[in-house]
Amino acid sequence: MPTKEEVLQALSAIRDPDLGRDIVSLGFVKDVAIEDGHVRVRLELTTPACPVREVFRREAEQRIRALAGVESVEVEMSARTQGPPPMAALPKVANILAVGSGKGGVGKSTIAINLAVQLARMGARTGLLDADIYGPSAPLMLGLVGRRPEAKPNEKIMIPLEAHGIRVNSLGFLMPPDQAAIWRGPMAASAIMQLLLQTDWGELDYLVLDFPPGTGDVQLSVMQQTRLAGFVVVTTSQQAAIADARRAAAMARRLNVPIVGVVDNMSAFACPHCGEHTPIFGEGGAEALAKELQVPLLARVPLSPKAVAAGDAGVPITVSAPDDPAAKALAELAEAVVRRVAQLAMRTIPIQSSQSTS
Ligand SMILES: Nc1ncnc2c1ncn2[C@@H]1O[C@H](COP(=O)(O)OP(=O)(O)O)[C@@H](O)[C@H]1O
Ligand SMILES: [Mg+2]
Repeated sequence: MPTKEEVLQALSAIRDPDLGRDIVSLGFVKDVAIEDGHVRVRLELTTPACPVREVFRREAEQRIRALAGVESVEVEMSARTQGPPPMAALPKVANILAVGSGKGGVGKSTIAINLAVQLARMGARTGLLDADIYGPSAPLMLGLVGRRPEAKPNEKIMIPLEAHGIRVNSLGFLMPPDQAAIWRGPMAASAIMQLLLQTDWGELDYLVLDFPPGTGDVQLSVMQQTRLAGFVVVTTSQQAAIADARRAAAMARRLNVPIVGVVDNMSAFACPHCGEHTPIFGEGGAEALAKELQVPLLARVPLSPKAVAAGDAGVPITVSAPDDPAAKALAELAEAVVRRVAQLAMRTIPIQSSQSTS
């Protein structure tokens, strides 16, 4: 029969490809139980959406099974985010991600919504806060026009709406659709903070914020009052968009918000007739920005007529047309975000010795 140390020794050969360490020193191995020839362990990852989850499970099973005296193996998988919550007032929300850009119309909402929906499909409990006070688009893009979140009885707390597996709130639900908020910056910021705090999000692995364009009071308040897990910069490769995206990234840096990476949206148009790729908004600008910021280029999302139709129809393209090249790029984006956010969080994960593994 193997000892607990032998089991841990075997598991310490498994490396997390993103974090660059073995799963034992990362503290992922929990509850090692050995009874007769039966070994049971639990692997606690930092996110339920971990793209290499099944690889870990399989490898752990194989490595334990290879130990002398082992007859059967059971590997249970669980997930728990390490570290303090991003906001004391929202203790059940594990990670808040902001999606922003300098310029309007570059596809922030399209990216934010598809990212959120995709995270949910990967197994994470996910919410979306449409924080674009001047042009809320979640109601239309998620097919929720005319709906309104209900308030909890006798409380100032709203129950978020649900669409495509995510919980959603937006000022767009609370205002008439033709009445864009013409608020001054500080009012807009306090409206968004209220919306964030007065929504009953429940337990969330990720809350995605769809920021308004630019570097205004909303971004400033959120970045100062929450510990964001990361900021996703969306841009096209057009120079005008790049310059503004650079400013948005600089704001995040200044406020100590880690930058997850850059998304090159509407990167090229593939002609449905001849297949030729035309870079409508130019080429290479987003990639150069990522290099300059020393962050990953997370995805190149091509210009797709289906993305427009999907947004207008209220069904995100990752749901309505998952085989479309833009949808595939968005799915890759979600994986890249999960991996990079785990890497960024790693800075605060203490390294464990095998003795301290419980
Ligand atoms: N990859 C894409 N391909 C085609 N159209 C896109 C793509 N990304 C966004 N769009 C469209 O561009 C417009 C602006 O996108 P939106 O996500 O609302 O931008 P923002 O939130 O930055 O203002 C929308 O009509 C949207 O459907
Ligand atoms: Mg928008």
